[in-house]
Amino acid sequence: MANETKFSTKLGVIAATVGSAVGLGNIWRFPYEAGMHGGGAFLLVYVLFVLLIGVPVVAGEFVIGRYTGSNVVGAFKKLKAAPFWHSVAYIGLLSSLLILGFYSVVAGWTVEYIYQAVTGFGGATSEEALHSQFDSFTTSGGRQIFWTLLFLAINFLVISRGVRKGIEKVSNVLMPMLFAILFVFCVNALFLPGAAEGLSFLFHPDFSKIDLPTVLNAMGQAFFSLSVGMGVLMTYASYFSSSTRLVNTSVTTALLDTLVAVMAGIIIFPAVFSFGATPAAGPRLVFEVLPSIFTTLPGGSLWAALFFVLLFVAALTSTISLSEVVIAWFIGEWKISRVKATVIYGIATGLLSSLCALSFGPLAGAKVFGMTFFDLFDFASSNILLPLGGMLIAVYTGWMLPRRILRAQLSAPGRDPGAPTPAGVRLVIFSLRFICPLAILAIFVWGLL
Ligand code: TRP
Repeated sequence: MANETKFSTKLGVIAATVGSAVGLGNIWRFPYEAGMHGGGAFLLVYVLFVLLIGVPVVAGEFVIGRYTGSNVVGAFKKLKAAPFWHSVAYIGLLSSLLILGFYSVVAGWTVEYIYQAVTGFGGATSEEALHSQFDSFTTSGGRQIFWTLLFLAINFLVISRGVRKGIEKVSNVLMPMLFAILFVFCVNALFLPGAAEGLSFLFHPDFSKIDLPTVLNAMGQAFFSLSVGMGVLMTYASYFSSSTRLVNTSVTTALLDTLVAVMAGIIIFPAVFSFGATPAAGPRLVFEVLPSIFTTLPGGSLWAALFFVLLFVAALTSTISLSEVVIAWFIGEWKISRVKATVIYGIATGLLSSLCALSFGPLAGAKVFGMTFFDLFDFASSNILLPLGGMLIAVYTGWMLPRRILRAQLSAPGRDPGAPTPAGVRLVIFSLRFICPLAILAIFVWGLL
């Protein structure tokens, strides 16, 4: 992201942050997490986390990013923060590495499924056939490695050639298309025989399901889906102009991001109950269930192919944001060229993602803390590192940053400094100081008990 000019339009700001936020997290991860952790109960807790913690921490990252005009590496240096606070940057590096490790495997699946869609899913239409097809695909070490590394190669090629801007232009057209196609699928879902059961699963909270795993995973999903807690948004905010309204932008991003996740849920769960799948199927859920929906639509494989192409692009804009934080760091701190940085980070993520790619087949038995590499990387980054990073960002902005700066950054540009602080800004500050740190800490302590 180095040496580029500021976003020129309001739409550019929203498109970039939403482009990073909307990805596999909304369409693949949200439905499977909700499916595993109580449906409506999960959605309820998730929305609370997005509003009470997600939005304020997003705003907090924006404040640091725009105020310092710097990415996560330089930001805390510029602020002359004590060395302890630099840990936010290291947590960010580690998160990026782990997330790219498992994310690129799933992004690889989207590429395989473009191919499968074009070839009509090998004629498979029943739930059983699609289930076993997914099994034979994910247990095959060779195919997993191939698609994972191919996806990473595309990602790093885009980054090394500096054509990121081009991709973002393309995605500004394709993301609204993704939104439109999701809308069509939502309407279709309402006519499936399992619609009532599916919607009740997603929207009717069963409060007895609110336990530690539900709360911890809902918190992790909120951070993951908003791309918050590791400095991606800080970097983006360093390109915001002084007229960008930070609180409004956080709220808009969170609303759009949550809308896409809920739409994915509205599409998936009716189909789950129509086609006899189980909501708690885990990471395979979407890949097993979506193809059966396509068979109900006229011109099914065309819809399927288009959908997976759009999902692939959504994944790519997210991995670009994830990679860029680390690449910018290498270039800035290690003073190496962009190409060298790309090669080094490409090799590192390639190695880690290979472990994840083999987690469903040859390495299925290799477990750390009872989890495969794929599950471990996912759990450690979403449920631990991002909330930890978010907690530090909240404490820093809420308690360490001079209040005058925090208030000025959060308030609308050109506001009379003597005027009373708007309620929205006061809420964000209150959450950064009290709700975020205490809630995240409480959940961590609960997990350790
Ligand atoms: N939010 C993206 C998604 O939902 C993934 C992502 C991109 C991300 N950048 C991130 C997650 C930074 C955490 C941190 O697919």
